[in-house]
Amino acid sequence: MTFHILISDPLSEEGIYPLRQANGVNIVMETNLTPEQLEDRIHGFDALLVRSQTQVTRELIEKASNLKIIGRAGVGVDNIDLEAATEHGIIVVNAPDGNTNSAAEHTMAMIMSMARKIPQAFHALRNQQWDRKSYVGVELKNKTLGVVGFGRIGQEVAARAKGQRMNVIAYDPFLTAEKAEKLGVDFGSVEDVLRAADFITVHTPLLKETKHLINKEAFEIMKDGVQIVNCARGGIIDENALYDAVKSGKVAGAALDVFEQEPMVDFRLLDLPEIIATPHLGASTFEAQESVAVDVSVDVVSYFTTGTVRNS
Ligand code: NAD
Ligand code: MLT
Repeated sequence: MTFHILISDPLSEEGIYPLRQANGVNIVMETNLTPEQLEDRIHGFDALLVRSQTQVTRELIEKASNLKIIGRAGVGVDNIDLEAATEHGIIVVNAPDGNTNSAAEHTMAMIMSMARKIPQAFHALRNQQWDRKSYVGVELKNKTLGVVGFGRIGQEVAARAKGQRMNVIAYDPFLTAEKAEKLGVDFGSVEDVLRAADFITVHTPLLKETKHLINKEAFEIMKDGVQIVNCARGGIIDENALYDAVKSGKVAGAALDVFEQEPMVDFRLLDLPEIIATPHLGASTFEAQESVAVDVSVDVVSYFTTGTVRNS
């Protein structure tokens, strides 16, 4: 029996080596399909492997009459209709920690670039302006970093921030005093974190509860001159409220890797010189892309050969 696998987003070739090695699999890689083309193509495939581009909608799942497993090469499964997958008995696996390190490093790169205005200064220099006055930054040392969402990436960012001699205060519904003490961070309610922090970084999934968690009211309780980072999911920060908070001078800097709509269509936020941005690059390293592709490939092979998955 042949197991047919469709890969519809670009995945690392090294990462899918476990699939290439397996006997009895037919791998088809088609990464530029429109949603309609994918719906026409999906029939007959046993497995679908995606990154974040492919939207695995209910409509697609309903057309996928042979589909048994969906592999998401990354953390967030918000591009997959989990309810529809469950209803159709389709297993969904992701790669929960394959890109943790890269996402944490990207977050630190954003914090440091923002604090020292490196992208803005480089942009000026590119335009042949030798301007040393407009790009005075702030040190991280002895500043407080507020981490909202203290899971894998939040904890890795906190460890790095402590290396920069920052104080860290975190909020997560699952964080206890005991665990916070063990990890050497302060903890409090989300409001405590927002009030105390000089820098804020969010690392939650995008859920009903976290959509616009950072909104107009949240900005109001923050320190004047706060700097904020989102390398998690677009929509955790309300972009309109962020625009107003930067415009008013309440927020001195923002660093965004993710947006309410991706690919980005409304570039208004980037008109503000205080905002720096990257196009969802948190996991875009060779190491992370290999690692997440290996994780889901191993699970797909395991499902095909033993009927079970590990999902780790
Ligand atoms: P994780 O599951 O390990 O951690 C998420 C944490 O958020 C959990 O500890 C959870 O308890 C906490 N949380 C849930 N609801 C919350 C709430 N209402 N308030 C505060 N905390 C809450 O996930 P992770 O691997 O650390 O990933 C974090 C985020 O980063 C996810 O959204 C993921 O999709 C995203 N991500 C982005 C990139 C990128 O390329 N920019 C790369 C990897 C992950
Ligand atoms: C993720 O959830 O893993 C990230 O968004 C990274 C990605 O898939 O690009």
